[in-house]
Amino acid sequence: MSNMEETLSIIKPDAVERNLEEKIKSIFIKNNFQITRQKKVKLEKKEAEIFYKVHETKPFYNELCNYLSSGPIVVMVLKKQNAILENRKLMGATDPLEAEVGTIRKEFGISIDKNSVHGSDSPENAKTEIDFFFKN
Ligand code: CMP
Repeated sequence: MSNMEETLSIIKPDAVERNLEEKIKSIFIKNNFQITRQKKVKLEKKEAEIFYKVHETKPFYNELCNYLSSGPIVVMVLKKQNAILENRKLMGATDPLEAEVGTIRKEFGISIDKNSVHGSDSPENAKTEIDFFFKN
């Protein structure tokens, strides 16, 4: 059965800073994701707080929002069959130390915070996150 989906992907400040933008995009393309929308932005802390609102009760929330707003990021809409799950597999575990060989976070991630990429974790969050960046 067809389950064409869109998911939101972010290339985080640590990866943009190390000029990994094109390398990471080419990994998505090679894995048959279509990048249907993209832009480079720098968030204000207040915007990062809204984006990561689902984590607002977590002890790492403040640092997480400081980090996401610390430098330019690249936000993309990725389209593919089962894009949400497929992107999460391709990114690997949140902590690069636990990510499997061949995943983006294993290859490029520095730490659980500087883990190079974000991807939506459910259809509901994918919609909210895509709207956050791309709703006019
Ligand atoms: P991301 O997929 O962007 O979603 C929330 C982020 O919180 C996660 O990636 C991590 O970079 C960050 N984070 C920091 N500390 C933790 C933690 N202890 N557990 C999970 N995520 C964490």
